[in-house]
Amino acid sequence: MKIERRPGADLTPSPVVLVTVGDGEAANIITIGWVGVVNSEPPMVGISVRPSRHSYPLLCAAREFVVNVPRAADVARVDAAGALSGDDLDKFAELGFTRAPASHVGAPLIAECPINLECVVRQSLPLGSHDLFLAEVVVVHADAGVVEDGMIILGRVAPMVFDPFGGDYWSLKEVIAHHGFSEGTMPDRPRTKVIQQQKKG
Ligand SMILES: Cc1cc2nc3c(=O)[nH]c(=O)nc-3n(C[C@H](O)[C@H](O)[C@H](O)COP(=O)(O)O)c2cc1C
Repeated sequence: MKIERRPGADLTPSPVVLVTVGDGEAANIITIGWVGVVNSEPPMVGISVRPSRHSYPLLCAAREFVVNVPRAADVARVDAAGALSGDDLDKFAELGFTRAPASHVGAPLIAECPINLECVVRQSLPLGSHDLFLAEVVVVHADAGVVEDGMIILGRVAPMVFDPFGGDYWSLKEVIAHHGFSEGTMPDRPRTKVIQQQKKG
């Protein structure tokens, strides 16, 4: 039996990232759950931000930002960055995060996050409660320790996801299968190509 519910953006879980925006001392950190991949070529991501956030005018002015992927072990600082506002304090100083220079955008990387995506906004769209910022990923930084044979190893990043309904942060525990493994176990039908693992030097 299904229970019909009122409409909601009930897609769960969502990733959790720390977005940095703004230059130098004015740079701010905002915890973002409404984030996702939206295109492959060029690589693009989208983030949705409420206009009431301190980060919002910074985003509108700079039209660039960094998506920093935090480790699950950093959940306390991620939670705090999503409760404190740059209106009141410097979250880098308050939470002990380290600014590292980006190469293509003004906003800093968060050194403690193993993956950092430098992004340049290509389109923004007011949707209602939030504005969607669609941005091209212009360069990716990864800690050497999470890269093997040119590939980012998710298990080493050890990120977290968020359940916006229960309000819980979850870690990712185990690999359950590899993409394409079902070939030969299901009826034989023409298949799209399995995603090739791209080795980047
Ligand atoms: C797990 C989590 C996810 C969040 N996701 C978003 C989001 O996608 N968009 C948004 O505008 N605010 C989101 N927030 C709320 C902001 O992070 C929060 O209001 C923050 O204090 C805003 O910081 P600022 O005023 O310095 O920009 C989230 C908070 C948490 C804890």
